[in-house]
Amino acid sequence: MTAPLLQAEALTRHYRVRQGWFGKATVRALQDVSFEVHAGRTLAVVGESGCGKSTLARQLTLIEPPTAGRLCIDGQDVTQADAATRQRLRQQVQMVFQNPYASLNPRHSIGRTLAEPLVINTTWSAAERRERVAAALSRVGLRPEHAGRYPHMFSGGQRQRVAIARAMMLRPRLVVADEPVSALDVSIQAQVLNLFMDLQEQTGVAYVFISHNLSVVQHVADEVAVMYLGRVVERGPKATLFAQPLHPYTQALMSATPALHAADRRERIVLKGELPSPLKPPSGCAFHQRCPRATARCAEALPALREVGGRTVACHEV
Ligand SMILES: Nc1ncnc2c1ncn2[C@@H]1O[C@H](COP(=O)(O)OP(=O)(O)OP(=O)(O)O)[C@@H](O)[C@H]1O
Ligand SMILES: [Mg+2]
Repeated sequence: MTAPLLQAEALTRHYRVRQGWFGKATVRALQDVSFEVHAGRTLAVVGESGCGKSTLARQLTLIEPPTAGRLCIDGQDVTQADAATRQRLRQQVQMVFQNPYASLNPRHSIGRTLAEPLVINTTWSAAERRERVAAALSRVGLRPEHAGRYPHMFSGGQRQRVAIARAMMLRPRLVVADEPVSALDVSIQAQVLNLFMDLQEQTGVAYVFISHNLSVVQHVADEVAVMYLGRVVERGPKATLFAQPLHPYTQALMSATPALHAADRRERIVLKGELPSPLKPPSGCAFHQRCPRATARCAEALPALREVGGRTVACHEV
């Protein structure tokens, strides 16, 4: 296999926050996260609210530097790179956010928004840029004359199409999409997901696709990483994870998704309690307090990720 496009090694992000009047505390938002993404492939990242998905997205798109760990894009270590290299690599990784209304400037026409990355990063003439903007609009299923319109003149689904077009403007190798369809009407979600997949087929772009919706993940992913309190607890090919999830947390997540076929319906596992605070992660396995299979050992020792049945999983009981 060729070298991975993106390689995260023990990526870690902590935030220092104020606690009480004088105290400071550390939020362990992301802890030792490792994975690879190959060109043209999709890694889906799933997990409960607050488990660190958006924090991961900010590290991958170079919006924030990691506290520790390494991130390589195309074999180049971004964490050690000089400013010029980082700038070049930043163009190769673009982001699509959950709420397209908040991520588009309401005072700029769509044409101006789409042309902006070209103005900054190329020496093309205004005519060339216009042509490129028109092509980008039609690629995402909009019309060239939409370039003169403003964000409020579009529906939610159309606005997300614009945001996707903008992300694709500089022909990135990787797009990190953070819950890109969860703000959209269910009837529109499938169309936008199909657009993501069509663009991947046409351009060979890779995706890190963040979603808490497992039906969405099943639709788009090649690989799946399941996160719990800042750590990856299970990761592997989509088919393997969906057919036989091994980590008790993955099993609980999957049992909570209504299956499409009755025969496939798994018994629902209801988790006790809520996601613990990343300010004070539980000892041992962070999931042990909510885990139906936890033993004394789980409260003491952190389970390492290891290879089991074609995927990696971090659980003492597997
Ligand atoms: N800038 C920050 N300062 C302090 N804490 C932060 C900061 N950003 C994120 N956190 C904390 O890090 C943890 C992970 O947050 P993150 O936004 O990555 O979660 P998420 O998985 O994207 O959740 P959601 O599904 O709700 O979007 C949370 O506990 C959050 O409060
Ligand atoms: Mg988030």
